[in-house]
Amino acid sequence: MNATNEKATLSFSDGTPAIELPIYKGVVGPDVIDIRKLYGQTGKFTYDPGFMSTASCNSKITYIDGDKGELLYRGYQIQDLATNCDFLESCYLLLKGELPNATQKKEFDDLVMHHTMVHEQMQFFLRGFRRDAHPVAVLTGLVGGMAAFYHDGLDINDAHQREVSQIRLIAKMPTLVAMAYKYSVGQPMIYPKNNLSYTANFMQMMFATPCEEYKVNEVLVRALDRIFILHADHEQNASTSTVRLAGSSGTNPFAAIAAGVACLWGPAHGGANEACLQMLEEIQANGGVEKIDDFIAKVKDKNSGVRLMGFGHRVYKNFDPRAKLMRETCYEVLKELGLENDPLFKLAMTLEKIALEDEYFVSRKLYPNVDFYSGIVQRALGIPTEMFTCIFALARTVGWISQWEEMITDSEYKIGRPRQLFVGSPTRTGTPGANITCGVPTGLVNPAASISVTSRETI
Ligand code: ACO
Repeated sequence: MNATNEKATLSFSDGTPAIELPIYKGVVGPDVIDIRKLYGQTGKFTYDPGFMSTASCNSKITYIDGDKGELLYRGYQIQDLATNCDFLESCYLLLKGELPNATQKKEFDDLVMHHTMVHEQMQFFLRGFRRDAHPVAVLTGLVGGMAAFYHDGLDINDAHQREVSQIRLIAKMPTLVAMAYKYSVGQPMIYPKNNLSYTANFMQMMFATPCEEYKVNEVLVRALDRIFILHADHEQNASTSTVRLAGSSGTNPFAAIAAGVACLWGPAHGGANEACLQMLEEIQANGGVEKIDDFIAKVKDKNSGVRLMGFGHRVYKNFDPRAKLMRETCYEVLKELGLENDPLFKLAMTLEKIALEDEYFVSRKLYPNVDFYSGIVQRALGIPTEMFTCIFALARTVGWISQWEEMITDSEYKIGRPRQLFVGSPTRTGTPGANITCGVPTGLVNPAASISVTSRETI
């Protein structure tokens, strides 16, 4: 970190002596004030729920300028990567810091594509899930379960083992996602094919059956590959911070990434594209374009709890550069499939236009995010809505694992342990239980034992 001569002086009105705190400069972006000694010197914590003003780490991987609408992977503009590179090149860049040359690209592609098969026993593990389980629930289990199958990559202090696990995660994630999908629709799992590209192979595992081969369509492969690139990393977002926090305890990479998948599932994060498509379908079912004004009125009514999904972002307060690329891809895919007049696409474009001119959204700096159009693209590609977050997780795995590696090798790495402002009861006096009059009488059998099987299943 680049220390500056600048210092922040923090003074207190309660008699605590003022202290000076060091300021560090990033290469770009806001300076940070180092508060690590604050508690030691003043006995006070900082309070920042949601990390609105807190840098949790230093990182060289991804940079976002929310005001400019800029996203850089290792210094490269997302627009340039999305138009000139494929997903595996972006993976190499995120993991290793540089784009590969031709030889490095070939070696990396070969390495990944020769590790796409998963342990056969994982199929039996998969069969323990209910078929109607949400695929993200299944994927979370499968990713975490990898730690039970790949024991030779669990030592986080061994650089070679870490690399082996990173490649395994990138290579096997498409296989696991496709397995979760095939299981949910009752079709046999399709094995990976090494002669296909990473993304074409994923599509064949999703859409081929033993009775019918998948015909690779380069426009559609390119579209999904772009979705992967756009979702590959995004600085210290909720799921990445989850991976870092989980990983900071020294747990194995599979457990840390499983935590990331679980976090991504939420509708405010990776679940947004699923929620966005559901929102568009609902507006369409209730009258389509004609009903947009009614919907927008509901969004503005704070009591309704309705949000315009696919709009707004914690960091982008001008535009999300990924959204523009996604809209372009959406158009290309629909054209390729002869779906230019797709009513949901038209509805989304009209909704975007209306929202972008509306004072409510303008004043709050709410713009379409990457998820506004990605659901329409994925639906056109034949990916069911419940799978959207799995696709996102597949793409984000490289970001998670690159950030995890950066953390493990950071000399300042410590277990993450936030503190709190305690607002509960102070020490209570009296003997616990002495005044209880209506608790469970001692000697009663376990109350759950008398619950019928049916009601137990719904617990
Ligand atoms: N629709 C309507 N109003 C919104 C929306 C939205 N999508 N997003 C934010 N607002 C409003 C809030 O109500 C709030 O208004 P107020 O100032 O009158 O109270 C203001 O804008 C600020 O919103 P916050 O929720 O405080 O902003 P925050 O940075 O915490 O939230 C978030 C960001 C979670 C992404 C939010 O914009 C949202 O819920 N969007 C919809 C879900 C979504 O698309 N998520 C995907 C994010 S991208 C990704 O994960 C890949």
